[in-house]
Amino acid sequence: MSVIIKVMKTVLITGGTRGIGLAIAEKYLNDGESNVIVTGRKPDTLEELQNSINNENFHAMMAKADDEEAADQTCKEINEKFGSLDILINNAGTNPAGGNLMDVDMGALEKTWAVNQKGPLLWARAAYKNELSTAIMNICSVAGYFPSDLMGAYNISKAALIYMTKQLAYELAPDIRVNGVAPAIVRTRLSQLLWENEEYSKNLHLLQKLGEPEDIAEAVYFLCSEEAGWITGEILTIDGGFSINGNSLS
Ligand SMILES: NC(=O)c1ccc[n+]([C@@H]2O[C@H](COP(=O)([O-])OP(=O)(O)OC[C@H]3O[C@@H](n4cnc5c(N)ncnc54)[C@H](OP(=O)(O)O)[C@@H]3O)[C@@H](O)[C@H]2O)c1
Repeated sequence: MSVIIKVMKTVLITGGTRGIGLAIAEKYLNDGESNVIVTGRKPDTLEELQNSINNENFHAMMAKADDEEAADQTCKEINEKFGSLDILINNAGTNPAGGNLMDVDMGALEKTWAVNQKGPLLWARAAYKNELSTAIMNICSVAGYFPSDLMGAYNISKAALIYMTKQLAYELAPDIRVNGVAPAIVRTRLSQLLWENEEYSKNLHLLQKLGEPEDIAEAVYFLCSEEAGWITGEILTIDGGFSINGNSLS
C-alpha cells in the first residue's frame, strides 16, 4: 500500500479581508495544499472573517501593510509556525488621495505611497529574511500604465510597483520568481466609485463586463505555481480589453 504525503505550502496575502485578496485566499484554500494567512488592519474584521471561513488552514492576522515591524514579526511567526513561507502576495492597497498632483493632499499622497509602493518592499524584505522559498506576486494596476484625472498619486504608486516587480525579479533570481498582475476595474469596495455607474463602466472594457475578484485570483494562482516556473519579471494585464480600448481610468 502506498502512502501519499501531502506537502503543504504557506501563502501570505497582505490585505486579504475582502475583495481581490480574499478571492486569492479562497483559491488557495480550495486546493487543500495551502496554509493561507491573510492580514488586515482591524481586529474585529479579522475575527469575524476567521470565524466565517471555518477552515483549519486559514489564518487571519493583524498587520498594517506599511508597518515594517509588523511585517518582520508576521513573517517570522509564520515561518516558525508552519515551517516555511513559500509565496508572498502583496495585495493590500489604498487610494485616499483624490485630486490632481498640483493640489492633492500631501498626507493622503504619502499614505498611498506608503501602503502601495513602500509596503510591498517592506513585506518582500521581511519574507526574504524569513526564508521565502518560491514566489512574490505584486497586485499592480493598469493605473500604472497611463495618466488619468484625479488619480495621480495612486497611478504613480502602481507604476512604481510595476517597476519594482522587475527590479526584484532581477535581484532575487534564480531563487525567487517575482511577477505582477495589472487589473482594470474589478468589482470591489476600493474601486466602487469607478463602477457605480455599471452600464458605463463595463462598456469601457472590450469584453463588456467588469472584472470580478476571482478573475484575478485565477491568474495569480497560475503565476505563482510550478506551471509558471519559467516566468519572472512579468506583469500580466488582466483587463477585459480595457487598455487596448484606448481608455484610462478617468
Ligand atoms: N478593484 C480594482 O478595480 C483594482 C484594480 C487594479 C488593482 N487593484 C489593486 O488590488 C488590490 C486589492 O484591492 P481591492 O480592490 O481588493 O480592494 P478592497 O476590496 O478595498 O480590499 C483592500 C484590502 O486591503 C486591506 N488594506 C487596506 N489598507 C491596508 C493597510 N494599510 N494595511 C493592511 N491592509 C490594508 C483591506 O483590509 P482592512 O480594511 O480589513 O484592513 C482589504 O483587505 C489593491 O492593491 C488595489 O490597488 C484593484
